[in-house]
Amino acid sequence: MTHPSPTPPLSSTSTTPRAGFSSSFGVLAATLGSAVGLGNIWKFPSLTGANGGAGFLLVYLLATLLIGLPVMVAEMAMGRQARANPITALRTLAPRGQPWWLIGMAGMGAAFLILSFYSEVVAWVFAYVLKALRGSLLSSDPAVTGAAFQALISDPVQSLLWQWGVLAFIGSILLLGVTKGIEALTKKLMPLLFVLLLLLCAFSLSLSGASQALAFLFQPEWHKITAPVVLTAMGLAFFKLSIGMGTMMTYGSYFGDEQNIPATAVRVMAADLSVSMLAGMAIFPAVFTFGFEPAAGPSLVFITIPAVFAQMPFGQVLMAAFFVLTAVAATGAMLSLMEVPVVTLHERWGISRPRATLLTLLGLVMIGAGCALSQSTLAAFQPGGRNLFDWADFISSNLLLPLGGIFIALFVGWVWGTGAFRQALSNRGRLNNGTLAQAIFFVLRWVSPLLILAVMLRGLGVF
Ligand code: PHE
Repeated sequence: MTHPSPTPPLSSTSTTPRAGFSSSFGVLAATLGSAVGLGNIWKFPSLTGANGGAGFLLVYLLATLLIGLPVMVAEMAMGRQARANPITALRTLAPRGQPWWLIGMAGMGAAFLILSFYSEVVAWVFAYVLKALRGSLLSSDPAVTGAAFQALISDPVQSLLWQWGVLAFIGSILLLGVTKGIEALTKKLMPLLFVLLLLLCAFSLSLSGASQALAFLFQPEWHKITAPVVLTAMGLAFFKLSIGMGTMMTYGSYFGDEQNIPATAVRVMAADLSVSMLAGMAIFPAVFTFGFEPAAGPSLVFITIPAVFAQMPFGQVLMAAFFVLTAVAATGAMLSLMEVPVVTLHERWGISRPRATLLTLLGLVMIGAGCALSQSTLAAFQPGGRNLFDWADFISSNLLLPLGGIFIALFVGWVWGTGAFRQALSNRGRLNNGTLAQAIFFVLRWVSPLLILAVMLRGLGVF
């Protein structure tokens, strides 16, 4: 949501002054802006619905706490210590000649893959703003809202044009250098999204299907927690917290020297979880009240949300506002995704920021088209039973981000070492958090790598 302001950090280890976040609130707003996005409004409900509800939710919460939080802290600490893009950061922090910078390369790949399908979902959100304003969507009939969504995604021209529109929009924010303006705007608008979600949630919980929805969300059916479900839940935890690919490392590199890293990570995680929970509780009562299919997958939000608004007073205006605010949240996440390749191309290969932005966009127009057309022109192309959109999603969330997580944990636990990690987390001894740092270090050294690896291998059916 927000972007580094051009204030140089208090002390920088690099020779050229780098941009940094100007205040502690700026840091929180920016990292939260990266974390909160379509992951909360779209991915979280879709996956929870498709994977059986409460059991999935429980595993997701555990993965966020046990795996996500320590890795997030690790990334932020590494980024701030090195004050550089992920590739340079890993080169700086690792002993000479060891190829840890490959984590940064994999992160760039993950950024491209995520953006290629993310931009398409943002495209649907943009299209829905227009549809909402026209009033063409308001219906509680699954057949009507389902058909409206299907018509959008199965039209190749609309899918491509909306995606290009989204990429042009993000590109112009970056190229015009108006990220500061966007930052100020989003800071004001995010609380509105929260309020609207609360309202939606309260209304939804008054519907007749509410108790069924609450049971679905909070009473686990243990047999539904299979190995692939656990892998998906862990992938979601990585995706949600924007970790495993260098985003939080990059944002950490803009943190001030006084920023309390563990406290920041906990706040971001808590706020992010609450937005997801609100979205879930807004959507599932409608699912059970109006007879939608909880396992509808990626379409879930787009077909159920209109149904809730159709029942509410001022539904049309509120629905337009909902999709506008969702687009705002998604914009913050997209800016943070773009930041990884852009700052790396800029700092590492000396390409100017505008050029780096254009190059990234060009790459996205090309690989993004595969995702945009995956439900229309390329619908029949499903190698291994998944279309290109689902592959981009699967490979990034369930493979690349967890792999990134394993190596980040291994790096901190075995290479960077406890002394450096404790120094970084305590702001060079100014914070009294040695025990906490020790505990996080232990988890990163022993628990995270093995746990992530085990979940991945089991989830992929390797053993
Ligand atoms: N966390 C963002 C969301 O939930 C997506 C994201 C993933 C952003 C990875 C940056 C890096 O929408």
